[in-house]
Amino acid sequence: MEDIVLTHGRYKNLHSTASLGEKLQHLHQMIQQDFAYVDRVAVALYDREMNALKTFVQSAKDLPLQFYECLMENAPSLMEIKALKQNRLVNDMTVFKNGTHEHTQNIASKGYQASYSVPLFDCDAFIGMLFFNSYQKKVFKKQDLTTLDLYAQLINSLMINKLQSTQMLVGSFRSCLSLVSYKDPETGNHLERMARYARLIARALAKEGHPGLTDEFIENLFLFAPLHDIGKIGIPDNILLKPGRLDEEEWKIMQTHSSKGRDIIDAIAGHLGLQSFEHLTLLQNISGSHHETIDGKGYPDRLKKEEIPIETQIVSVADIFDALTSHRSYKPAWSNDAAFEELNRLSGTKLNPDCVRVLMENEPAVKEIQQRFGDDQGSHA
Ligand SMILES: [Fe+2]
Ligand SMILES: [Fe+2]
Repeated sequence: MEDIVLTHGRYKNLHSTASLGEKLQHLHQMIQQDFAYVDRVAVALYDREMNALKTFVQSAKDLPLQFYECLMENAPSLMEIKALKQNRLVNDMTVFKNGTHEHTQNIASKGYQASYSVPLFDCDAFIGMLFFNSYQKKVFKKQDLTTLDLYAQLINSLMINKLQSTQMLVGSFRSCLSLVSYKDPETGNHLERMARYARLIARALAKEGHPGLTDEFIENLFLFAPLHDIGKIGIPDNILLKPGRLDEEEWKIMQTHSSKGRDIIDAIAGHLGLQSFEHLTLLQNISGSHHETIDGKGYPDRLKKEEIPIETQIVSVADIFDALTSHRSYKPAWSNDAAFEELNRLSGTKLNPDCVRVLMENEPAVKEIQQRFGDDQGSHA
């Protein structure tokens, strides 16, 4: 062999700006070169607030488990390996055939016969679960696990990296946001609700097969939706807090909050060295374009229909629905029926009709969100 040899690094894509899902797909291909029987590699994210595991990123032939959430109490065997910080090999999943737990039934119903599960940690904090699955039984060999454990550590590091970057960005923006809400405290639980409406709409569209709406995308949409009005921090108090109607000049200044939001995001991401953060565009779109309307008469860029990114169209519907059904100093809370009627009126001209439709079709889930994050003023009945 020559003294100096240049090669294409096998894992160089892991340093790219690709999403975590894309990186996982790349790793899956590498794993299959050694272990062709690994048909699925998936990471489920731990949601501390709900004590649940939710599907997050995966690489599989036919994405069998998506948009799925499982309470930890319904997955006792996963709870056990989490507590013991142990990995678990199940080489024949028919042992779970008669299991009554939701999670086991779900995995088995997708035809997987063998599974190797690894709990993921950031220091001592449990962050999720990694699964290697196979359609064949008894294929995982003891000696293979050493290599799979190395891949697991690599995926664990990628997860930590991703979660820390996201947390740093979201944390910084939330700090800015709390400055806005000190100035403009009228919002109550608006942000909590609208982020959940946005997730509800996105999941429903994803289930209908809307392209691009992966679990990872939807999770980021949920995290970033509350930042839509971050640009209001740049609006002078005499306009932002004016009790009466804004005059034409003031209205023009108020409208600059969307482009100011985009600038603030660029600046903060720059300060944190996260300009190449893979979902920065999602955040920029939510903040910069949430007042665009599909008839091209919105602001700041008068974008039309498909020119407006789907994340922005989703956030617009969620934001407007919550504004309508919330109490404000100048209006009572509208009923859901009245708000739906108004959304229907705007559907197709201002708002994306599919986003409006799926929100209305999911009224029970809407009511659950309203009950959990109500403002105790007015009613949504
Ligand atoms: Fe706004
Ligand atoms: Fe809003």
